[in-house]
Amino acid sequence: MFFSVFHLERTMPPSKAQKDSTFSSRQTQSENWSKAYLSSKVDTSSSNNLKAFSFNDLKTATKNFRSDSLLGEGGFGCVFKGWIDENTFAPSKPGTGVVVAIKKLKTESSQGHREWLTEVNYLGELRHENLVKLIGYCSESENRLLVYEFMPKGSLENHLFRKGVQPIPWNTRMRIAVDVARGLSFLHNLDANIIYRDMKASNILLDSDFNAKLSDFGLARAGPTGDNTHVSTRVVGTRGYAAPEYVATGFDLSIT
Ligand SMILES: Nc1ncnc2c1ncn2[C@@H]1O[C@H](COP(=O)(O)OP(=O)(O)OP(=O)(O)O)[C@@H](O)[C@H]1O
Ligand SMILES: [Mg+2]
Repeated sequence: MFFSVFHLERTMPPSKAQKDSTFSSRQTQSENWSKAYLSSKVDTSSSNNLKAFSFNDLKTATKNFRSDSLLGEGGFGCVFKGWIDENTFAPSKPGTGVVVAIKKLKTESSQGHREWLTEVNYLGELRHENLVKLIGYCSESENRLLVYEFMPKGSLENHLFRKGVQPIPWNTRMRIAVDVARGLSFLHNLDANIIYRDMKASNILLDSDFNAKLSDFGLARAGPTGDNTHVSTRVVGTRGYAAPEYVATGFDLSIT
């Protein structure tokens, strides 16, 4: 982990084109995935803590997904800033209630639907100070959205690589590395041994005091349990970030 953060400081992140070619089922899934995931239901037993938003509510909360609400864009879609009432979660006027970050999946992304579902099912259950909080989701016809707590300082990637940004002091970098390690350790120590599988600076989000939280659980999976010390898996992650030995072998992940 420490290696990753300091290594990332000296190497440029993958280009947008490389990011878009994030390997995993992003490569080859047929349209069947899309149909299957569109019809798949959220596991409500694990999403009890989550609010099911209507598409209209999220449209209102983001001023119709207006470009001046845009916080950023990733491989699966855009992230918008929105406002909701802290008690009722109804959309509220900008400047009132609480700020949230709303990720809107591109409707044509079949892998996006699959990862959306994984994210809801994992983050709907997991709560830790170093994991970003998922507040709710929207699943209405082909629309898939996720509503998160707003992280005012955005992603670590922006602080490391954006032109003209103020460099983060080394003690803050150390704190971020420790926060991320805590988040991963929490996942690895759960009964399900959750493996995160998408470790990169853009998935590390920062609050107003530079406390760091992991985001994006779409590629997470349950790890080995009991006497099974290995799990077989197809190789997933983002080019340029995954460990070379994992990319080369593609079969075994182990937690020791
Ligand atoms: N909860 C949040 N609070 C504030 N900003 C956020 C939040 N979530 C995402 N963002 C912003 O939106 C940007 C895009 O995030 P997203 O997770 O969609 O893509 P990414 O991580 O950059 O790329 P990839 O699709 O490869 O994971 C982030 O870099 C960040 O600046
Ligand atoms: Mg991300």
